[in-house]
Parts: sequence; C-alpha cells; structure tokens
Amino acid sequence: MTKTKLEYRCTECGTATPKWAGRCTACDAWNSMVEDVRGAPSSHGASAAAPAVPIGEVDAQFSQPHPTGIAELDRVLGGGLVPGSVTLLGGEPGIGKSTILLQLLAQWPTRTLYVSAEESAQQVRLRAERLQAVQPHLWLVPETSLPHIIAAIDQVQPTLVVVDSIQSIADPDVPSAPGSVVQVRECAHRLVGEAKRRGVPVVLVGHVTKEGGLAGPRVLEHVVDTVLSFEGDRHHSLRLLRAVKHRFGPTNELGVFEMAGHGLQGVPDASRLFLTDRRTGVAGSAVVPTLEGQRPLLVEVQALTNTIRDGVPPRRSAQGIDAGRLALLLAVLERRARWRVGNQEVFASAVGGVRLTEPGADLPVCMALVSALANQPLPPDLVVFGEVGLAGELRQVAHASRRLAEAARMGFRRAIVPANTPDGVEGISLMRVATVAEALAAVGLSGTSPS
Ligand code: TYD
Ligand code: MG
Repeated sequence: MTKTKLEYRCTECGTATPKWAGRCTACDAWNSMVEDVRGAPSSHGASAAAPAVPIGEVDAQFSQPHPTGIAELDRVLGGGLVPGSVTLLGGEPGIGKSTILLQLLAQWPTRTLYVSAEESAQQVRLRAERLQAVQPHLWLVPETSLPHIIAAIDQVQPTLVVVDSIQSIADPDVPSAPGSVVQVRECAHRLVGEAKRRGVPVVLVGHVTKEGGLAGPRVLEHVVDTVLSFEGDRHHSLRLLRAVKHRFGPTNELGVFEMAGHGLQGVPDASRLFLTDRRTGVAGSAVVPTLEGQRPLLVEVQALTNTIRDGVPPRRSAQGIDAGRLALLLAVLERRARWRVGNQEVFASAVGGVRLTEPGADLPVCMALVSALANQPLPPDLVVFGEVGLAGELRQVAHASRRLAEAARMGFRRAIVPANTPDGVEGISLMRVATVAEALAAVGLSGTSPS
C-alpha cells in the first residue's frame, strides 16, 4: 500500500506542490491549485511485476495498428488503433466527438462498447439511427460509475471501448467530484490498466476549455498513448483532426472531415474543399501549397489593411497565422521592401480553419498583405511559397515538387518560389526570386504604398 500525503496540484498543467498558491509556478494559471492525494494513482495501478526479456523476444505484432475503417482517422493514427492503447479525443462541445466515435464503433468489425456518461441510451440510439450505426455488434451502456463501467466491459467482452467522456465518469472510492483532476486521473489510470491488461484499444473523449487546453487535467496527456484534437468552426461543416501526441507514429498528419446530415464524411480531396469559396480577382488573396504531414494542401491566405489616423496604435489580427510571425513579416515589408505598414491596421487569415504553422506560408502572407495595400489582385493562376528571412531574403522549403504537383493538379499554372528551389513539375512555370521585393516586383507590385 502506498503512503498517501496531501499536496496541491494545478488543474491546468498537473504540477504538484506541497504548499497552496494562488498562481501555479509552472504555467502561471491563476486559482488552479486544488487539493490532491499523493501516491493515489499507484493504489489502483499496482499490478504484478513484468519479467525482463531480450528485446528480440518481444512480440512486435501485438502493437500493429488495426484499421478503423475511417480512412481520414487511419491517416492521422498512422494506420489505425493499436491493441491495448488508450487514445484521448479532445475537442470543443458540439464539434462532433460523439458522432465520429459512434461511427467508429459501428464500422469496427467485431464487438464494441460505447460508454455514454453524458447522454441517455435513447439519445444515443436516436443519433445512431441517423448515422446508420444501429449494428448488432455495437453495445451501449449509459453509465458514469467506474466500477460499473468495468463490469460492463467484463460482461460485453468488447474489442474496442469508447468512454464519452472521461470528465463525466467517477470512481466512488475516490473522495472527489467528477471532472476534478483527481477523479479524471484516477479513472484514466484505471482504464489504461484495463486496456493494457485486455489488449483492447480504449478511446476517451475529453472536453476542451475555451483556451484550447484539455479541460483541467492536462495530466491526462501524460497518461494516454495518443492525444487527438478535433477542431473546426462549429458553424461551418469543416472539421480537422490532428494528433497532438502519438506513441505509435507521426503526429503531423491531418484528417479532414465534413459534417453532413448523416454524420462525418471524410474529405480525401481537401485542396478542392479549401478553395471552393475562393473568389479570384480580389486584392489581398494569395494561394499557398502547404504541407500538413505528408499531405499537400492548397490554402488561401487573405489580408485586409486599413490606413488609420496618426498616433493611434494600429490593430494587428491574425487567424490561423502566428501573430508573432505576422509582426515579423510586417517589419520585413516595411524595412526590406519599402512598403509602409506602420500606419495600417492589418487583418490576416488562413481560410477554412487551417493553421499555417510552416515557414512556406511566409511569402504568401507578405504577398497577400501587399496585394491588399496596393489594392491589386494577384494573378488567379498563381501559387506562392517560401520562407522569409529577416534580411528580406527567401529560403527554400521542403518538398517543393510535391507542393507544385498539387498546385498543377488544381489548375494553377504559375508559381513564385525561392531562387534555389529544385526542379519544378510539368504544367506549372516557375518564377524564381531571391527576395521578398523581387517576388513583389514579379507581379508588378514594386512601387511604394499609397500614403
Ligand atoms: P456531437 O458529436 O454531439 O459533438 P460533441 O460530442 O463533440 O459534443 O455533435 C453534435 C453536432 O453535430 C450537433 O450540432 C449536430 C451535428 N450533427 C450533424 O450535423 N450531423 C449528424 O449526423 C450528427 C449526428 C450531428
Ligand atoms: Mg458528445
């Protein structure tokens, strides 16, 4: 039996301290320290000692992923769900977590169990009808108590378990409210143990706070094997799935879904979807062939600028583009390309809820900004990519040919690229430039900005 001792734990980052504090010393969150019991997890997690074996005798077959039958999910998971693994699916309420997991359970070839801790069996049944997920091998238990959930797993003997959600279940032996760090961590530890012991994959739903963190218990991220994040605008149908942490594969693949009347549909041709609403001939728009993991995607970058009165600090707003990066690019435009931006309020966004985090998006952001400033559209058949340095120089980015091939496939015919980009692809002519100023001059934007 482990000795228990009282301590304080941050609900945001999980850092423990012996003394209570108003602000977490690790993540600076206010009022996030709550009472916790040290040594508690091991009381449940205790199991027989595992024997040491030579590495060659370890059965690697066991950790082969099983395809889920949902291609976009398999893409993000690197093939499927690994037996005995625990996956946390995080996302804002209403984004479609329950929907996609019900679809997953229905498509799984053998018996599955859905633990519904938030909705009644009737509600789940109604949704399942809509999703054509009323399958004989899909079992359902509306339950919030951890021992009852484990009893249901014993009864059903499923080959896949979904718990919706980890924040609404509780172990009655733990003297803490459902959703508290202690409860969430205890329940997660227990379910991880069950998953490993039975060799059954378990998927946990986790609610996400407004700030984007997994509500309270970031501790969960350490407990599970995989953390998936489901994003998108609730008011639009597009949904993006990413792996934030993945013990069994890469974390940079993107899954794209569309929420339809009968559930989430995979979108294999994401470039087409991202460009559907694009209007050509409008100033302040540039198209970038970006890379999400192995997947090339064409994304529109938009910018809007407005001259403001002297003395008023101009507003800078970035959506899907890093705000610090936007500030840097504005400084480069001002100093290295002689476009006056200091007196401009600036809005820049990546369309469709995409986050452009890779450096290849630097040049397209610059070109969209200057196109907006000069009120002059870029050519409709042009794509742009390249990393911008502080001297205004352009640096090449990885996988140029894959980017260009995708652009050519989508009907683009011209590309502005960094000077030392390797060979191009058929159907698209390259304009190689060494600096941001040269890139702008290549489309006739060499003047200075209107004052
Ligand atoms: P849900 O899966 O309940 O979200 P979460 O579990 O993340 O909170 O999704 C709810 C939303 O999805 C709701 O606004 C209705 C919509 N929806 C559809 O558009 N089509 C469908 O087929 C289903 C089942 C839901
Ligand atoms: Mg739900």
